[in-house]
Amino acid sequence: TLIAVIMAGGKGERFWPKSRTKLPKQFLNIAGNKSMIQQTVERLERSIPVHQIIVVTNELYAELIHVQIPHLPINNIIIEPVGRNTAPCVGLASIIIEDRYPDSTMVVLPSDHVIKDEQEFTNILLAATKVSYRDGNLVTLGITPTYPETGYGYIESTKEVELVDNMPVYKVNRFVEKPDLPTAEQYFENGNFYWNSGIFIWKTATIRGYIQSLLPDVHDILETMKKDFHNRDQNEVIKSEFPRMPDQSIDYGIMEKVENIYVIPSILGWDDVGSWTALERINELDDHGNVIKGNVLNLDTKRCIIDGNEKLIATLGIEDMIIIDTEDVTLICSKDKAQEVKNIIKVMKNQK
Ligand code: GDD
Ligand code: MG
Repeated sequence: TLIAVIMAGGKGERFWPKSRTKLPKQFLNIAGNKSMIQQTVERLERSIPVHQIIVVTNELYAELIHVQIPHLPINNIIIEPVGRNTAPCVGLASIIIEDRYPDSTMVVLPSDHVIKDEQEFTNILLAATKVSYRDGNLVTLGITPTYPETGYGYIESTKEVELVDNMPVYKVNRFVEKPDLPTAEQYFENGNFYWNSGIFIWKTATIRGYIQSLLPDVHDILETMKKDFHNRDQNEVIKSEFPRMPDQSIDYGIMEKVENIYVIPSILGWDDVGSWTALERINELDDHGNVIKGNVLNLDTKRCIIDGNEKLIATLGIEDMIIIDTEDVTLICSKDKAQEVKNIIKVMKNQK
């Protein structure tokens, strides 16, 4: 059985002030008129029935998920009492899936990405599933890098290739999570590297095996929880045991350390919508290169990103700026500082 696991516990601080702890970016309509998590579920429903879609999230967002995806069965919303990054998240999903299905394959994916080519996504998913059937295989969707981003994982492919459903699948040489800039530049020039899309396909048994050998402390807690599921209410078990998990990402904890990784080069119109400047890639620009939403009067304004509401925002003679207006906060930021917006949150926290 093919089970999708959507990881939806992230905070998305670079989209402040629209995205807040209470409402992170996966729940915002940043790309289109549905939220990114709604779009993620719809995209999956092309090939996976909704009762086989599981969302793992923080207790802060459980209600939001229920409201935004009302047809998702309540039992498929798995609630973490605290965020411990993606490895415990995947581990938790894996024992719950194991409990429900004797033999299953997981598609693990983020909740906050844009994918334009849904048909291609569906095709690749099915091919990836086939590759994952062989024990020990981990499959990821690779994106051709367009610049040396340091916030992504890099996948170096070998020349070893097979065709699955007419789709080239490459054996991976190594996986490097978030390299520093000189290294990312080298990878970018090299040509054999893909970005890790953060979308993984593996058999539940395969990932459980790797967690056992590479993250034994995570494994031990999973085993304790699994046994307890039969004696106590599942949510209570998670509430009491999960906080003992170490903070660990699947990328550093597993992907960087294993051999049997395969990558499918994927041309999907993928974007991880990492900061406000992503809006320029996923929206139509006006004649002056601006992205404009809301009630905006812009004169002599170039390459700006402006997002407001009913209140009029008037601009004159500005370039390369980000202006985001919300009810209680207005952000005015130089475009080249978009990655640093989360520093504002840091400073505000320190002032409290
Ligand atoms: N449930 C849950 N619990 N979800 C989480 C948690 C958690 O503790 N932490 C993160 N997530 C979710 C986020 O909401 C997001 O959808 C996904 O897991 C990935 O986490 P990020 O924190 O966004 O990871 P990243 O962007 O630093 O890096 C990952 O994604 C890149 C592509 O966007 C890595 O997989 C990179 O290798 C990859 O290139
Ligand atoms: Mg991310």
